[in-house]
Order: sequence, then structure tokens, then C-alpha cells
Amino acid sequence: MIGRLNHVAIAVPDLAAAAALYRDTLGARVGAPRDEPDHGVTVIFIDLPNTRIELLAPLGKDSPIAGFLEKSPAGGIHHVCYEVEDILAARDRLKAAGARVLGSGEPKTGAHGKPVLFLHPKDFNGCLVELEQV
Ligand code: CO
Repeated sequence: MIGRLNHVAIAVPDLAAAAALYRDTLGARVGAPRDEPDHGVTVIFIDLPNTRIELLAPLGKDSPIAGFLEKSPAGGIHHVCYEVEDILAARDRLKAAGARVLGSGEPKTGAHGKPVLFLHPKDFNGCLVELEQV
């Protein structure tokens, strides 16, 4: 059911510093920062030949990644995003298998303008999983 790895998201305490690290030290193609108020984050995408890295920094007071950065002040891998062809069919199949879908259970528009859902990390070996319909 899941397809390609769309991106790996890394929560960072300092977005500009992380962007400079990837651009200058790792020599990657780093995009411009974009605020995603619906998700409480500012994101920067980094294009790699086979996938993307999503740098995430908190936006606003109730950012869902604030707690993550409190526990891991240096940052860390926050989620992985797998592509699916039909997000509602994927959701229904996962729910039927006992997996918990976060939030209302209805897809939100993600950073690429496509429908996304998040799955509870406790149901996926401690890893927060994002599904994106492509
Ligand atoms: Co993501």
C-alpha cells in the first residue's frame, strides 16, 4: 500500500542554522522557509536525488513540535512520510487494522498542497508516520 518515501522530517531549534548546515556543510539544495500556520510549523524542504528532508521549526505558541524540542533540545527525527495513492482507502485499511489516526481522522492539506494524515507513533514502532496522497 505505501509507496515511495516522500520525506524525512527533522525538528530543529534554529531553522536558519539548520538550513546553513545543510546548504554549506552538507552541500544540499535548500529551499526557502515557509510558514504553515495550520500545522504550527515553519518548514524548509531540502531536495535530495532520491527523497527530501523537511526541516521543521515551531511556529506560534501551540506548535505540535514544541514538546518534541523540549525533550530533544538539539532536534531530532520527527516523522517519516510515505506516499499513498488513495489516502482515504489507506486510512480505512489502517483503522480496520487497529492503527490510530491522529487528530480528527480527516486529511489536512500538507506542505505540498496534498492531503496528509498522521498515524500514532505507538502503533508504528515509536515512529510518527505521515501519509501523503500523491
Ligand atoms: Co512531513
